Order: sequence, then C-alpha cells, then structure tokens
Amino acid sequence: MTAIQWTQDMSVGVQSLDSDHQRLLGLLNELDLSIATGTGGEEIASVLDRLTHYVTEHFGREEALMRAVGYPDVDSHIRAHGVLTGQVRDITQRHRTNPEAIRERAVMGFLVSWLTTHIMGRDKLYSPFLGSRPAAIAEAEAAFDCGTDEAEALRQSLAGSETP
Ligand SMILES: [Fe+2]
Repeated sequence: MTAIQWTQDMSVGVQSLDSDHQRLLGLLNELDLSIATGTGGEEIASVLDRLTHYVTEHFGREEALMRAVGYPDVDSHIRAHGVLTGQVRDITQRHRTNPEAIRERAVMGFLVSWLTTHIMGRDKLYSPFLGSRPAAIAEAEAAFDCGTDEAEALRQSLAGSETP
C-alpha cells in the first residue's frame, strides 16, 4: 500500500531538499504499511523514531539553506517547522509510553496532510529564491553535511564512551 507518492510537481528545485522530501514520504509509507499489516507496536515505534530523527535533520538542512541565501520568510518558516517537530516528538513519546493511546490512522492522516500542505505551500515559496542561487546553496549544503557528520561522530564517540 502506498499512502502518498512524491511527484515532480512537489519539486522545490533543490536536489538535496527534494531527496529529503522523498525520504520523508517514504517513511510515511512505511508507517502506513506497519499500521495496515498490524505488524505491532515495535515496528510503528521504530518508524516514528526514524521519522523524528529525519524530520529534525531535514528541517535543519532546509533552514540552513534558507539562511544561507537570506530568504526573507525564514523566521516564520522555522516556527512552522518547530511546531511540527514538537508534534512528531509528542506523538512518538506518547506512543512509546502507551501505544494504545495513539489513534494510528488519525496520526497517519495528520502527517500526510501536514507534509504535503507544507511542501506544496510554504516550501514552494522559497523555490525560486533558492533555485536562483546554486553556488550559495552548494556551499551551504557542504557546510551542513560536514556539520552533521561531525555531530554524528561526536554522538557516536559519546555513546561509545558510555558502553560498559
Ligand atoms: Fe519546510
């Protein structure tokens, strides 16, 4: 079953962000499949954890690129990201605490609706702004990827030091 498919009309004109959006929609399809096949709470918890992680990473990248080119609407866009990040974290936490308390289909519908509306509405607005500055975008992408690599290496070294 496919809940939602990325189509060319969703493109925001920046390859790395289109890839992120495709991956996010892929995770929603995984969530949909987990719910439909009733594979159990563990599977759904795993998808929600990955969704939380990836939403955070994607928003970070998108915000870094918007800032790098001085996109005028960056602050209100970041606020919208913050609201959704909080909601995804809340859903994930509530599911972990008590899976029965989550109405899975309602959560699924909410996430699909939010993401498609956001991409087709707000994200599309930055498309001409970012798309016309490929050099600045390439530089910001490299800096962001480097930053996440370093952050990941630090997380792993810290996690390693806690291993008994
Ligand atoms: Fe966005």
